[in-house]
Amino acid sequence: MTSLLCITIFVLTVAGSAYSQPTSPPFSVSAKVIADVGANVTLPCRLLAHDSSSFGMVGIRVKWTKVADDESLNEDVLLSMGFHKKTYGSFENRVFLQELDNEDASLIMYEVSKDDTGKYRCEIINGMDDTMIDVELEVGVVALEGVVFPYSHPGGRYNLNYAEAVQTCADLNATIATHDQLEGAWRDGLDWCNAGWLADGSVQYPIVKPRAPCGGTKNGPGVRNYGNRDKTNSRFDVFCFASPLNGRFYWLVQPDRLTFDEAVQACIDDGAEIANVGHMYAAWKLEGYDRCDAGWLADGSVRYPISRPRKNCSPTEAAVRFHGFPDKDVKSYGVYCYKDEQ
Ligand SMILES: *[C@@H]1O[C@H](CO)[C@@H](O)[C@H](O)[C@H]1NC(C)=O
Ligand SMILES: *[C@@H]1O[C@H](CO)[C@@H](O)[C@H](O)[C@H]1NC(C)=O
Repeated sequence: MTSLLCITIFVLTVAGSAYSQPTSPPFSVSAKVIADVGANVTLPCRLLAHDSSSFGMVGIRVKWTKVADDESLNEDVLLSMGFHKKTYGSFENRVFLQELDNEDASLIMYEVSKDDTGKYRCEIINGMDDTMIDVELEVGVVALEGVVFPYSHPGGRYNLNYAEAVQTCADLNATIATHDQLEGAWRDGLDWCNAGWLADGSVQYPIVKPRAPCGGTKNGPGVRNYGNRDKTNSRFDVFCFASPLNGRFYWLVQPDRLTFDEAVQACIDDGAEIANVGHMYAAWKLEGYDRCDAGWLADGSVRYPISRPRKNCSPTEAAVRFHGFPDKDVKSYGVYCYKDEQ
């Protein structure tokens, strides 16, 4: 049963005027079910009539429908009238009523795919207290508890084979991103025109605004996939995934501009360590960290995190701005530090 990965979140709203409006369902309930691809899921639906004890499911009609944005395109899923049950279309022989007891009209759906994602409506019709329940099903969507960021090697674009890509993310206090994580980041607005390795050995990049230099405009927005590449001889950038911080990311307030070595030492003197790229992305994306000062990071790059776009910082978008990998001896920048608090 451990493979039945499935979370249900209930939202129950009881309309105040419900009892004076007998023509509308007395309760409006919605639930959300999140499941992995291939899981068996249960979409909950129970008879909600306040006098339910007098009804059994026998003799009551239960109808499950997949609701489209344009409701004239709704799909029938299952119809049950007493002992007669019928399933429809792609749901044929794949959905069943749970019927644990007389009030249970929950739908069991086997081996869900991404196409099953959508809104389902359960109607229990007995002519008196009709019940209508909407349940949202989301299949194969990984909640992003972290941030995905692209990374190019200091030596330039497309410099990493697969093993180096994995190691690079680890060095940045992150892990190489999965396809689902990249897709979640794309849905969240990540648009990046350089292709990077993912954990499964494929090479992909996320495009929100299709444009000629980034794979053209023929395909709509989406995660573009170069497929699996030769892990030893192919070289690309990488997408890394950083988790929420356990410690504090901060700009070190100090009087002078620093060389890279001075920056490393300044954080140590402050009881911390120089922050890494993963720390900056996590602080920026997950904590809204915003600072318009270019500072050294542990990989030798100089960056600054802007979550409130403004003139002279990052005018058009919230972003971690990249200032390159300057000569480590120039005294032109400050430093961002990270202090573990575990
Ligand atoms: C789903 O249910 C079927 C039938 O009970 C079972 O054979 C299958 O292993 C289940 N799949 C998962 C992912 O639990
Ligand atoms: C960041 O990663 C480096 C290299 O793996 C490691 O030495 C360091 O302890 C990590 N720091 C934190 C705060 O996770």
